[in-house]
Amino acid sequence: MPGTRLSSAAGLHRLIYVSRDRTPDASGPAETLAAIVRQAEHHNAEAAVTSLLLAHEGCFLQALEGPGPAVMAVFRRIYGDPRHGELRVIISGAVERREFGGWSLCARRPERDDAPILAALGQGEAFDPDRLSCRTSLWLLMAMRSARAFA
Ligand SMILES: Cc1cc2nc3c(=O)[nH]c(=O)nc-3n(C[C@H](O)[C@H](O)[C@H](O)COP(=O)(O)O)c2cc1C
Repeated sequence: MPGTRLSSAAGLHRLIYVSRDRTPDASGPAETLAAIVRQAEHHNAEAAVTSLLLAHEGCFLQALEGPGPAVMAVFRRIYGDPRHGELRVIISGAVERREFGGWSLCARRPERDDAPILAALGQGEAFDPDRLSCRTSLWLLMAMRSARAFA
């Protein structure tokens, strides 16, 4: 993983990445997300990894939390998945508690009712994953925890 520094402390770890959606549009975005969740949630459950995945304008933003080695093992699989590309790790480090502990894997997509989230995603212009900071990405994912939109 060139250019990516990852630590794998024995304690609780959080990794957040952003990537471009390379899934074929044929089955539609909702079905695409549902298929990812179906395939992945049992892996996360077995590894005590919890996760929130946000899909927006052709991008994925995902937080993974759990024991360091388990998070890294899940992330290595995700990293090699051709269904997305241009993956960039935004945050990878030890944390004291989980912020996304409610699900093995939950996938959400903001909708019209989630106006503040959409405003932050727009950041004044078109959504640009290259400009997502640590702070904004964490805020977005935390806001999505209680958003109405489900994939
Ligand atoms: C955006 C995205 C998010 C994913 N998230 C997870 C995840 O949280 N956990 C996981 O095990 N696999 C996840 N996957 C799927 C993995 O990349 C990989 O395809 C899968 O774990 C392989 O499972 P299998 O060995 O049962 O076929 C994700 C894939 C994509 C495209």
